[in-house]
Amino acid sequence: MKKFRILLAFLLVVSFALEACNNSEKSTGSGDGKNNKESSKAAKLEIFSWWTGAGEEDGLLALLDLFSEEYPDIKVENAAVAGGAGTNAKAVLASRMQGNDPPSTFQVHGGEELNASWVAAGKMEPLNDLYESEGWNDKFPQDLIDMVSKDGKIYSVPVNIHRSNVLWYNKKIFEENGLQPPATFDEFFAVSEQLKDKGITPLALGDKEPWTATHIFENILLAKLGPDDYKKLWTGDISFKDDRVVKSAEIFAKMIGYINDDHSSRNWQDASQLVANGEAAMNIMGDWAKGYFVNDLKLKVNEDFGYVVTPETDGYFMVITDTFGLPKGVKNPDDVKKFLGVLGSVEGQDAFNPLKGSIPARIDAEVSKYDEYGKAAMDDFKASKLTPSLAHGSAAPEGFLTRVNQAVNIFVTQKDVDQFINALETAAQELK
Ligand code: BGC
Repeated sequence: MKKFRILLAFLLVVSFALEACNNSEKSTGSGDGKNNKESSKAAKLEIFSWWTGAGEEDGLLALLDLFSEEYPDIKVENAAVAGGAGTNAKAVLASRMQGNDPPSTFQVHGGEELNASWVAAGKMEPLNDLYESEGWNDKFPQDLIDMVSKDGKIYSVPVNIHRSNVLWYNKKIFEENGLQPPATFDEFFAVSEQLKDKGITPLALGDKEPWTATHIFENILLAKLGPDDYKKLWTGDISFKDDRVVKSAEIFAKMIGYINDDHSSRNWQDASQLVANGEAAMNIMGDWAKGYFVNDLKLKVNEDFGYVVTPETDGYFMVITDTFGLPKGVKNPDDVKKFLGVLGSVEGQDAFNPLKGSIPARIDAEVSKYDEYGKAAMDDFKASKLTPSLAHGSAAPEGFLTRVNQAVNIFVTQKDVDQFINALETAAQELK
């Protein structure tokens, strides 16, 4: 009996030791993908994004299905972290990257978010070979390739192009009140006054996550500075004390006078829903809102809801591109490249984008798969001046954006223009 207990204890110790080795191998996540075929085979393909729930998830699931059809033997893990515009996902990603535990691939906006955060820190593998072998170099617009490149090396693959400067409106409310969607700020305020008199909330906002208000502000800046000078704000060539920035803040304050009272307890979907239900007339949101209206709320484009560009931004296109790359040190780089291959293919883009509300990043996608809004956005993208979104990480580094979001959040309640401009000026130190 004693011998048996000793043997049992010995076996337990050995099995704990083996388990510990196994765990430490998992948690370091530092395999180079070449040395251990077994671990490469077993490693799941972990796709990290913030696309969960209403209006966000459908496109991703369609893309994952397509991938699994093509590669049934590769196990995929959908590791999405909820929160609009990456509110929570970006923080989770940052701590994983710092701990050398990257997901196999992750959602990242082209521009500063990719370059300043991850490429400059040496955390990403270049993908020029993949672009070469897939024949992609002339299949994406050069402007987009530039947004995901640094020093001639390409670091991620764009799955889509979203537009930030869109004003959505409830058709019935506008028709019943004999109103036209506003093209200028004066028109916006005139329409809003009439709606307010009728007891209808003119503008829906859900700034429980503050980026939604920054999203409105960036489009006022674009209108008042124009595309060239808007871009100079992020290089420090134009100061936030510029009269046109002050003017933008004043317009912003006035617009906030027309929002729903419960804005701070709503997220972007909840705010869009007010427009869908006819409780509010307009909202300013990226065209993922179209995915939400159509797929989740079953509304019809140009029947239930309409869209125009945000006031005074005709001919401009505020670009947001969601991209995926290959972090250094993942266990399964070949599987990641297979996933990127599908995501960058015509089929991949056309499975994802009609559901997501975005247009394909590729220039040769199948136009007939897109609705009226999508077709118009594709034409606009080609004909417009393109500008990078601040609220969605492309225009400026994350540290600056975090401070702007904080300043905007305070401004929405206090509407103190001087204080706001000072806060922006202080935040601008992050741009140096
Ligand atoms: C992303 C979109 C997403 C939106 C709301 C943006 O930053 O680029 O893909 O739908 O945030 O979460």
